[in-house]
Amino acid sequence: MTQDELKALVGRAALEHVAEGGWVGVGTGSTVNHFIDALATMKHRIRGAVSSSEASTARLRGHGIEVVDAAAVDRLPVYIDGADEIDHRGHMVKGGGAALTREKIVADLAERFVCIADESKLVPVLGRFPLPVEVIPMAAPQVARRFAALGGQAALRVGVLTDNGHPILDVRGLQITDPLAMETEINQWPGVVTVGIFARHRAAVCLLGTPGGVRTLTF
Ligand code: A5P
Repeated sequence: MTQDELKALVGRAALEHVAEGGWVGVGTGSTVNHFIDALATMKHRIRGAVSSSEASTARLRGHGIEVVDAAAVDRLPVYIDGADEIDHRGHMVKGGGAALTREKIVADLAERFVCIADESKLVPVLGRFPLPVEVIPMAAPQVARRFAALGGQAALRVGVLTDNGHPILDVRGLQITDPLAMETEINQWPGVVTVGIFARHRAAVCLLGTPGGVRTLTF
């Protein structure tokens, strides 16, 4: 199976985690696009969606699925999203699609994070994928220097601004052995809007696409 077929497989499998009659939190990315297409088949059995990006909102609405702002709901039963990396405890690196801030906001509303990913995303230690960090522009050089002190090399993602209008630093060379501690530390740095480590908002479940079918990891 191709990587895209594995993504489609878990996109469809995620429907089992959608609460009938409820709101669903929807992430961003190519795997989530498959989920959104599958969600269209049960659109009359959900209330609607809270979306984490303009791209996902457009795709949801294109299928006739109602999308409401995150501010309009108090809580969500589930948030379904992909990841750039996930470890064996459900910690993730996210933000390869530049949607990390809204993803973390919507994930924070949800009782459960269900991660959907092809098997290439499962890693023993986070950090091989460059860590995305959304920053306030004037702070980018000093945030990059802080990463250098940790052994990371930060580079601005050229030609990309987030849906919030901010640049992204991609940080190479980190070994994220303690994701919760590193997320907590980076969150304290002035000018950091969002770090793409999802440890406080780790997955409860990961549906992993493998050639043998969907493997369910629970954390
Ligand atoms: C978006 O900013 C990311 O967090 C995505 O969830 C992540 O990049 C996964 O993307 P794919 O599903 O396209 O691999």
